[in-house]
Amino acid sequence: MLKTCSPASPLPGEDLAAELESGKILFFAEPPFPIPDRELFNGLDPGRARFHKNIAYRPASRRLTGASGIPSGQRAPLRSALERYSSNAVSFLARLFPRYAPAWRIDYASFRPFEEEGRPLSPKARNDLVHVDSFPSRPTEGDRILRFFTNVHREKPRVWISGGTFDRLAERYAVASGILPHVTAIRPPGVLARALAAVGLRKGIRSRYDEFMLRFHDYLKENEELQAEARREPFSFPPGSTWIAYTDMVSHGVLSGQSALEQTMIISKSTMALPEKAPIAILERLSGEPLA
Ligand code: SIN
Ligand code: FE
Repeated sequence: MLKTCSPASPLPGEDLAAELESGKILFFAEPPFPIPDRELFNGLDPGRARFHKNIAYRPASRRLTGASGIPSGQRAPLRSALERYSSNAVSFLARLFPRYAPAWRIDYASFRPFEEEGRPLSPKARNDLVHVDSFPSRPTEGDRILRFFTNVHREKPRVWISGGTFDRLAERYAVASGILPHVTAIRPPGVLARALAAVGLRKGIRSRYDEFMLRFHDYLKENEELQAEARREPFSFPPGSTWIAYTDMVSHGVLSGQSALEQTMIISKSTMALPEKAPIAILERLSGEPLA
């Protein structure tokens, strides 16, 4: 599942987009660009921020959110450090994936300062239960969620588990869970509803694809069979390492580790190297219906 990449990647002839779209996690043993703020990230005390899932940085508005627990004097340096990481990650990804860059959307970056082991989160929010990603507030209509992570902790590895890739999970559970039959029975939004949504006059239209992915996220977290299977084979990302995955495809959970940085990109389905492997294509094949 991991493909180890060289700092010089992509090597001649290497198609990293195809590897990623096939469900590989691209792994770099060292950060592929300098991260001068590692000490700053490690030195922050997030103690009072615990009620937030993590600290987000929004590149478009250059705003930090979820940082209210960070002492006010440390917020500006943290924002600048995340801004540097975010822009370096985006440039690096543009070099690695020239086919995606023209149509991608730069989503949030995040700083994950909490020890993941034993975090008191609600079942749906728990990070240690295997799932595929789906954002309740940011439907993608079949576009893809690509995430770039770096473990910036001094000593601790970040330990992940996986229950395999979306193709396998969908084959096993999309119909059996009842979720695919349920969403295909929902009438797709009509022309008028979509027009009103496009000009912002109507909210809350979620494509049938997004409806499926949200429900599937929760279903997988509640599936004890899958959770037990995934826990048999943890794998770890050492300090300093960096990895990239389509987290809407590679199921994942994090068992332990602290201080990770992450940049999310929304990749247009129109730029896929292997469009037939995208979750939306898999679901449309299984259901025989357009889902977005
Ligand atoms: C997640 O996307 O589920 C969390 C992964 C991580 O923080 O390592
Ligand atoms: Fe996730």
